[in-house]
Amino acid sequence: MPVLTSTSKALQTHSVTKQKVLFVTSEIADLVKTGGLGDVSAALPRAMSPLHDVRVLIPGYPQVVNSDNPIHVVGELGGHAALPPCKIGRMDMKDGLVIYVLLCPELYEREGTPYGANNGRDWPDNHIRFARLGLAAAEIAAGQGMVHWKPDLVHAHDWPAGLAPAYMHWRGLKTPTLFTIHNLAYQGVVSRGCCPELGIPAHAMQQEGLEFYGKLSFLKAGMAYSSHITTVSATYAEEITTPEFGCGLDGFLSSKAQQGQLSGIPNGIDDSWESATDPHLVCPFSLNDWDGKAVNAAHVRDLFELEPSTGPLFAVVSRLVFQKGLDLTEGVSEFIVNAGGQIAIIGRGEPEEEQAMRELALRFPGQVGVRIGFNETDARRMFAGSDFLLMPSRYEPCGLSQMYAQRFGSLPVARRTGGLADTIEDGVTGFLFDESSIPSYQEALRRAFYVFDQPDLLNAMRCRAMTQPFNWCKAVQPYAKLYDELVGRSVGKSGTY
Ligand code: ADP
Ligand code: GLC
Repeated sequence: MPVLTSTSKALQTHSVTKQKVLFVTSEIADLVKTGGLGDVSAALPRAMSPLHDVRVLIPGYPQVVNSDNPIHVVGELGGHAALPPCKIGRMDMKDGLVIYVLLCPELYEREGTPYGANNGRDWPDNHIRFARLGLAAAEIAAGQGMVHWKPDLVHAHDWPAGLAPAYMHWRGLKTPTLFTIHNLAYQGVVSRGCCPELGIPAHAMQQEGLEFYGKLSFLKAGMAYSSHITTVSATYAEEITTPEFGCGLDGFLSSKAQQGQLSGIPNGIDDSWESATDPHLVCPFSLNDWDGKAVNAAHVRDLFELEPSTGPLFAVVSRLVFQKGLDLTEGVSEFIVNAGGQIAIIGRGEPEEEQAMRELALRFPGQVGVRIGFNETDARRMFAGSDFLLMPSRYEPCGLSQMYAQRFGSLPVARRTGGLADTIEDGVTGFLFDESSIPSYQEALRRAFYVFDQPDLLNAMRCRAMTQPFNWCKAVQPYAKLYDELVGRSVGKSGTY
């Protein structure tokens, strides 16, 4: 569970009025996560808690309803079109975070991830499952369901929550909405024929609404009907207004940017990312304790059945999907191994990517090790034990792994894109390359090998990386300001800044 970050500086400049904010998300790391959205959903509401009363709404997957935390039913919502009725449960986390759980066993209590079965296939009724989430948020915002807590603002995340602002709009609610894009490539696009099932009015199927090339897009709904859009780094906020990164929505996003309705607020990492105290590590270590770091490296080599080595250890901790550029890592692996490096890979994702990683390990026995699956302890040990983290992402809205790695003295070798460009200082805290190509990647790796051979240089870079100020304080201020402005605007007064 994330540790609360100090937000005292933010408090000094903030008004005393706490806004009530409903944070609508499909993952929260305490209970269930498939990637960074889960981490952010666990950390950001907690980091905001000194300033605002932020409560989370999440579907009642098995990982949620079967957790050790008791759930008390506090409300009930009726059905709408093909969306079934559901109950609202309240879960109080030990540190005070309130999570509203959407209880609807027929939609959510299935073995698998939040989005699909364990074989990687998405649930065919995801449009119903996540429309139900969006509608529940809108109903809570309207004061329905006897929840006895009515938000001043709804903050919805990614396509699964995209219909929340839309249902609020169609119901004439004045409550302001903020929509955060964590990944523009996942859009929740379904046939327009689904509109009646979801209770979507016919007039919404237009360019200014949720229509996307003749289909219905949950992501577009979130963008079109919210009061403001954010994404998770300044560079990605610019990139998504271009055809290269805009996933077909660049024109729409450019016009939002021109109207001042699109901004980038970078993610942070929570205070549990402290190498000297992390209980997951086999050997917690402080700045300059490189022998301690080496104990973690030996553990990772053991875990991945790598031969003992004095060469550099490269880690991949990633969802195994196209975005992450794993084919490029495959392409440079021979170069890494020939130069005396080893690679440890952990993650899961698309079946073809998983298979490609297994085959890579078979090609280089004892030098490349792969574990398909994910667990937090191994991930943390890999950040602590590795010398370098490989992150050749084709695009990266923010990226958390490169920040975790730096905090644990592992220097990222990453593509200069999105949040990677904003959080890695080339040649100072890691190595950046420009093109999604093997030569460009290899050039950065050559520099990494060069630094590895110069212990003074390597250790100086590790120190710079480990002391980067990546905590949530920096993000809390802009979010708090935005919450205030949006609520202020909606009640016809200016913000408190
Ligand atoms: P993304 O959200 O695109 O996967 P981030 O770098 O923002 O990338 O976040 C990655 C987070 O997800 C880290 O906490 C990482 O340890 C974790 N993670 C990586 N791969 C997986 C996986 N296959 N399943 C669950 N969590 C994962
Ligand atoms: C997405 C992005 C990642 C980002 C995370 C949290 O999954 O791919 O870059 O860090 O969301 O915002």
